Amino acid sequence: MAQQSLFKSKIGLIAATVGSAVGLGNVWRFPAETQANGGAAFLLTYILCVLVLGIPVMLAEFSLGRAGHSDAVGAFKNLGASRCWWGVGALGILASYIILWFYMVVAGWTLEYLIQSITGVLYEPIAGISDGNGQFAVRMNQFISEGPGAVANTFLMIAINIGVLLLGVQKGIERLSSILMPLLFVLLLVFCYVSVTLPDAAAGLEYFLNPDFSKITPGVVLNALGQSFFSLSLGMGILITYSSYFPAKTRLIKTAFTVSLLDLLVAVMMGVIIFPAVMSFGLQDHGLEGATLVFVTLPEVFSQMPGTQFWSVLFFLFLMVAALTSTISIAEVSVKFMQDRFRFGRVKACLTVLCPLFLFSTVCALSQGPLSHIKICGMTIFDSLDFFATNICLPVGSIFLCVYLGWFSPKGLFESQLTNAGTIRSRFVGIIRFIIRYLAPILIALVLLSPYF
Ligand code: PHE
Repeated sequence: MAQQSLFKSKIGLIAATVGSAVGLGNVWRFPAETQANGGAAFLLTYILCVLVLGIPVMLAEFSLGRAGHSDAVGAFKNLGASRCWWGVGALGILASYIILWFYMVVAGWTLEYLIQSITGVLYEPIAGISDGNGQFAVRMNQFISEGPGAVANTFLMIAINIGVLLLGVQKGIERLSSILMPLLFVLLLVFCYVSVTLPDAAAGLEYFLNPDFSKITPGVVLNALGQSFFSLSLGMGILITYSSYFPAKTRLIKTAFTVSLLDLLVAVMMGVIIFPAVMSFGLQDHGLEGATLVFVTLPEVFSQMPGTQFWSVLFFLFLMVAALTSTISIAEVSVKFMQDRFRFGRVKACLTVLCPLFLFSTVCALSQGPLSHIKICGMTIFDSLDFFATNICLPVGSIFLCVYLGWFSPKGLFESQLTNAGTIRSRFVGIIRFIIRYLAPILIALVLLSPYF
């Protein structure tokens, strides 16, 4: 979790907030959602969601956090909000906890791929598959459908999280990630280059960048909205907590733009890497499940590069650390809540939050394989939890957040936060205020309800 000391410098502050935003959401979830929702049409809708709704909602969280000086529930309390508003913070905590269940499973996959990259098993030919084509799809399907491997890695990841949270080495991990994240960025640039020079790169880029507007449906817009909030870590109270450490002189508007655009850039880079590879290796014919897309495409890209294993180890190491920093910060929301609300000691709070994951995350892991026949509203357990937390809880929480800040918070609080008590001018203040008061609550509500019209 972010510590005060991290935010002594402007770069530190941005790095920590970007660190929270950039994670499996960009690398794993974004390409999967793009593929499931029609390619470039999804990208376009996603960018609009980030610019029109994501940045203003981020500013709402920043303002609430810096003015309220506490966690998601405490901030409302400190600003004198009535009890029902605390529920908004509580909804964010619930969403973050559910996200943790399935995020931990994917974090486990990154661990497995790191281990397989180090041992070289990932790149060994599989008996019965003649050429390299499709080999990684088979391997991933085997891995998740067999069950024990995926569950074992999830358990390992939960255990690592418990260890870090109990030993209190978050600071070290945070520092490690602030070094690794910029390196991950450079690494992605290299992979972008390799991917766009693949034989069928043009077809992949066309799919990712040339929108077919007929593909934009209410469902696609809802998925884009959910993805943008997931990726920017909005609606979970994380940024309320982070911004409570922001110094008074931090320019919130500039910070929100920088963080959001960097997060967007990483997502777009992932698209530029993944889709040329999908086309070039004929992976679209393999009936790839969205959730496993990255774990199949990237090894294909690495196997085209000299020093395959080197790049593979480097990438999955960075991704594993990025996943770990995210799981720790998501878990910390619930741990802190247990400590503050129920007066639990640190150890008890950590164990209460993380031990149930051995059950919940196992169910999520198995629902991608042996339990995939169990469907809730036509989706696997994994996908339905993801849908409920990401597409319902985060947007609903954000609507209430906007309504509180726009209409019920102490008068002038939002403007004062955006302008640092009137000391800076920004032409965006008026428009952001308008979005938070009117546009965001109405638009988000419409998007939420649109699939039912
Ligand atoms: N935004 C992160 C991602 O894209 C997920 C996350 C959510 C991390 C909330 C921390 C807190 O992966």
